[in-house]
Amino acid sequence: MDQRLQDTLAKALAWEKQGNWVDAVARRNEALDLLLARTERTPTPRPLDPTDSLETLGEVHKPSKRSHDYLHRYWKHFRDVQFTARKVVEVGVQTERSINMWEEFFPNATIFGLDIDPVCQNYAGGRKKIFIGDQTDERFQLEFIKETGGDFDIVIDDGLHSTYSMLKTFSYLYPALNDHGIYVIEDVQKKPAILQFLAQLMEFVNYMPPDFDLLNWPGLSAFGDSAPWLARNTIGVSFHRYIAFIERGFNPRDNRYLIEAEEFQRRVREQQDGVRAAAEELELAGLPVTQESLVAKLGRRSAHHVDRYLKGKG
Ligand SMILES: C[S@@+](CC[C@H](N)C(=O)[O-])C[C@H]1O[C@@H](n2cnc3c(N)ncnc32)[C@H](O)[C@@H]1O
Repeated sequence: MDQRLQDTLAKALAWEKQGNWVDAVARRNEALDLLLARTERTPTPRPLDPTDSLETLGEVHKPSKRSHDYLHRYWKHFRDVQFTARKVVEVGVQTERSINMWEEFFPNATIFGLDIDPVCQNYAGGRKKIFIGDQTDERFQLEFIKETGGDFDIVIDDGLHSTYSMLKTFSYLYPALNDHGIYVIEDVQKKPAILQFLAQLMEFVNYMPPDFDLLNWPGLSAFGDSAPWLARNTIGVSFHRYIAFIERGFNPRDNRYLIEAEEFQRRVREQQDGVRAAAEELELAGLPVTQESLVAKLGRRSAHHVDRYLKGKG
């Protein structure tokens, strides 16, 4: 970090410690301007992760996705399922480089390659199966799903790369993933409609049933059937430069620490009883019953229980 930036951040911190938030914010903004004005190249590129076996395999097989620097993104998302994945689909084969790499990386999986070019049939063999057809063709896709049984752990769309083909393929193959499958779309640059679609998916990940009381959200244990299917079955969207990973899962039930609605309501009632008792004590002592007096009595961690109590009293 350069000296001027360091000094500015130090000043911001000093103002914060004195409780002078106006000057603190001004210094932080100044630091941000300094950061934005930086034009020098990052001095050292991303260090190689020595445990990243996919980049090592990439050096051997040299698929085109390696030159796009996608492999370490894949590594982050695939390492947890490397040995459990049974069915991996790559739309867009072109050469044997990529499917050979996946075959080696996923030792227990069948690799299904889809391509419109009949030459790709030559790359079948071992645990690799090739299907020739147009990824946007419904009949071809439904036939493919029927023949393979679907239930894919991973689907990678590295085919035609048009907005239309990406959305169409997603509509067939995302529902054909297994419940915790991962869907990848490569090369989303210059495709505003795809970014909009990803933003829409993020809204689904962030879904909250209409009219749900925000204060109750830790007790939200079901969305109900009226929630969109994508909201109930999409738990994450990760976006990296030109590549997106979409994770299937159950919302909100993939939260293994979920508090069941009844248990949550019981805890809320218990907390509210505590706040009510504190309010009665204050009243008996002739003291004002306010947010401040209740929080002073019950501790800062009770602040939102106090808010809920006061809101309930109108
Ligand atoms: C970028 S290459 C795939 C590269 C490969 N996955 C890799 O990492 O080395 C794109 C492939 O998509 C195929 N393709 C293009 N349009 C297609 C379509 N409509 N349906 C299926 N495959 C298509 C092309 O024939 C080409 O082989």
